[in-house]
Amino acid sequence: MKIKRLLKWSLGAILLVLLGWLFVAYWMSTNDCNQNAANPNNPMKAIVNCEYGVENLQLREIEKPTPADNEVLVRVRAASINPADGHLIRGVWLMRPMLGMRKPKNTRFGTDFAGIVEAVGKNVADFKAGDEVFGAAKGAVADYIRVKADRGIVSKPSNITFEQAGSVAIAGLTALQGLRDKGHIQTGQKVLINGASGGVGTFAVQIAKAFSAEVTAVCSTRNIELVQSLGADHVIDYTKEDFTKGDQHYDMIYDLVGNHSFSERRQILTPNGICVLAGMGGAGLHPESWRRLIANFSAAFRSNFTPQKFVTYIAKLTKDDLDVLRDLMEAGKVSPVIDRTYKLDQTQAAVRYLEEGHAHGKVVIVME
Ligand SMILES: NC(=O)c1ccc[n+]([C@@H]2O[C@H](COP(=O)([O-])OP(=O)(O)OC[C@H]3O[C@@H](n4cnc5c(N)ncnc54)[C@H](OP(=O)(O)O)[C@@H]3O)[C@@H](O)[C@H]2O)c1
Repeated sequence: MKIKRLLKWSLGAILLVLLGWLFVAYWMSTNDCNQNAANPNNPMKAIVNCEYGVENLQLREIEKPTPADNEVLVRVRAASINPADGHLIRGVWLMRPMLGMRKPKNTRFGTDFAGIVEAVGKNVADFKAGDEVFGAAKGAVADYIRVKADRGIVSKPSNITFEQAGSVAIAGLTALQGLRDKGHIQTGQKVLINGASGGVGTFAVQIAKAFSAEVTAVCSTRNIELVQSLGADHVIDYTKEDFTKGDQHYDMIYDLVGNHSFSERRQILTPNGICVLAGMGGAGLHPESWRRLIANFSAAFRSNFTPQKFVTYIAKLTKDDLDVLRDLMEAGKVSPVIDRTYKLDQTQAAVRYLEEGHAHGKVVIVME
């Protein structure tokens, strides 16, 4: 009886401390926006989000950065938007202990960029002023960004535009790592790509073809020509046909949508096939998003007990893989697809468009 009461009181005390901590963390949560509001000495334009919410994305003048010894300063020519950007600026509650409870800790927006090297730190030997580059770094939607020379930056192939190069990093790495590292793609394999017309899907179709796979792309009627032009061998129009009801079997399903059950997808996988669970459908939070996310984790767990494997993953930024993408583009095997471009002061509109969930290719912000 005593132990029960003790446990009850301890639990209550822990809950109270936790609530107190959450309350304090919430009200203490702040960011650098007030400091940045002062007149910058050497101004540049950047998109910042001082508060959570797409409506709070603002174009501001802030201090132009100076590269550290191991960094490259890039004048950004184009930057693209990814589904994760929307989740970050909205501050999904589950992520707020990391992102900042009341206000976002990181107030700079965007990750993918392409541009021209303006200056380099004294320890940087691989780049020089004037080099055309692309990659990923925090705060890409701005006139200038600093990038660690050994991490998120590689040279831009001359056969693609800045708009295209600025759209590559996250979507290209996601497609490459999902197909190669998680799906173990092999020559001649039958690969089905669900969500083939979006930012990641348009890279996935081309990369799977570069690995000499036989690709079936799943998209809606209006995107059939697009995915065919990217090299898809077969197309399934999801508005007319359910791909899990056909008699074809696939070595890999690369699934960017997650709108079919574990058993439906197992039925069309070969006996040792792999389903790579890359996403939950088009960008934005839709009524189905949370259910699909949970179903993805559940499928990955259940596949521990089946010969067919379901794997989730988060793409990683690596210079080696940016190099692989650069080489694929240089060889003409991958050509980034741009759906729409927006100007810097139209960033809110760009995010809203992407979050409708029906972009075909990438949405890019172009700097003047
Ligand atoms: N794992 C990772 O590290 C990682 C990284 C990046 C992205 N992701 C996730 O991957 C997913 C796709 O990202 P994205 O950048 O490609 O998004 P996106 O560009 O917004 O994708 C839009 C595309 O999804 C298609 N789509 C929507 N519903 C569909 C359905 N039921 N069947 C087939 N296609 C459908 C749309 O085609 P229609 O217009 O024809 O409907 C549209 O072309 C997102 O859930 C994102 O969060 C994961």
